[in-house]
Amino acid sequence: MAERIKVTVGVAGGIAAYKAVEVVRQLQDAGLNPHVVMTAAAEKFIQPLTFAAITGHKVISSLWNEDAGASGGEVSGIEHINEAQTTAALVIVPATADILARFAHGIADDFLTTMYLATTAPVIVAPAMNVVMWQHPATQANLETLRKRGVTIVEPDSGYLACGMVGGGRLAEESAIVATVAEVLAHPSAGKKLALAAGKKLGLVGETILITAGGTREAIDPVRFIGNRSSGKMGYALAAAARSRGARVILISAPTALPAPEGCELVPVTSSEEMRTAVLAKLAESKIVIMAAAVSDYRVAQAAPQKLKREGPRILQLEPTADILKEVVKQRNPDTLVIGFAAETEDVLANGRAKLVRKGADALVINDVSGNETGFDSDRNAGWFVTPETQVELSESTKVEMAERILDQAVLLRKAQSHAVAVRS
Ligand code: CTP
Repeated sequence: MAERIKVTVGVAGGIAAYKAVEVVRQLQDAGLNPHVVMTAAAEKFIQPLTFAAITGHKVISSLWNEDAGASGGEVSGIEHINEAQTTAALVIVPATADILARFAHGIADDFLTTMYLATTAPVIVAPAMNVVMWQHPATQANLETLRKRGVTIVEPDSGYLACGMVGGGRLAEESAIVATVAEVLAHPSAGKKLALAAGKKLGLVGETILITAGGTREAIDPVRFIGNRSSGKMGYALAAAARSRGARVILISAPTALPAPEGCELVPVTSSEEMRTAVLAKLAESKIVIMAAAVSDYRVAQAAPQKLKREGPRILQLEPTADILKEVVKQRNPDTLVIGFAAETEDVLANGRAKLVRKGADALVINDVSGNETGFDSDRNAGWFVTPETQVELSESTKVEMAERILDQAVLLRKAQSHAVAVRS
């Protein structure tokens, strides 16, 4: 396994400090190696031990750490300089009005603010505070200063705040923060551009993404076919979500009853062989491939040229179809990310994991299709997003929501991979 990229999560003293735990966890799920730095105020909200236990690294909070320089310690020398120089990104969760002000004015009166001045790594701030504090001209001016300096701001959401008010200032979704970190790692100089896009779902501007959807049909005769229960909803939701994130989307679709998602390049196909030809033709121009189609594993060896008549019992000779996903894995460019789906009815996770190895894909979305509530022909889905090293549960949600979460994972994976390539080269 490649060495994980180190990122530093700076936790400031706000009520949303507990949410940093989930951010740290998701950064780990994304294959990163988070270290945590806390302000003294943050320690009033959450124990350093929580972060130390999750990350396996000591949490730094004081500039005057007695252990600094001690032999055998993980951090040595001038700690803040060390931390500042060895991290790939500094992400502040939550960024309070106070920490934004101290960053903006270059005040270096604790470990985190000193590290901010000492690092050349990209800095990401995820503000969270009371709506009036958020809207205050002082806070907005500080944000503007940071933005101009290239700091990436993950805009807070609107909603119920801990103070009982409703408005802007609620910490952005943890997954949005993690997706931003991944994006920044891939494009460290893009801070300004990202700042403009902050608050939107990030990740696929300028990317070409190929998605397969629907259930293939294998002809028995001119009017009959072997099909399956796939509705195409998951693939179409992925296509629409990828498009709204700014991707060029090639949607290769077996028959469905769904309207074409706006702005996507729809390539209609019927059989698995047609899907295979269409996918391989578009593979070279695709940076991400997500194969959500339910592809028939068998076809009729010799489809009848005319409609078959009812004439007593009949045996259909079936032959296996080509495994498109396997071929894609073999033929793709090395930097193309390939994500498959696995429909399973028993030992879902274990079978799905085995399929990931068999297919050689970078990741699989594993679905349990044994029930009627989720999976085939349903509006809802649940499962796992697994890579050889990581596994993220996709708890039950609509397919539209699940599409966003799958894309978050895909973006993370892609950025982590391209970062690893950049670090190696
Ligand atoms: N797939 C494919 N070509 C096939 C069959 C499946 O590209 N001929 C792709 C699907 O689009 C999906 C993944 O492979 O992304 C897994 O599909 P699934 O039906 O779960 O797996 P199978 O390979 O068919 O294995 P099995 O039916 O034995 O579970």
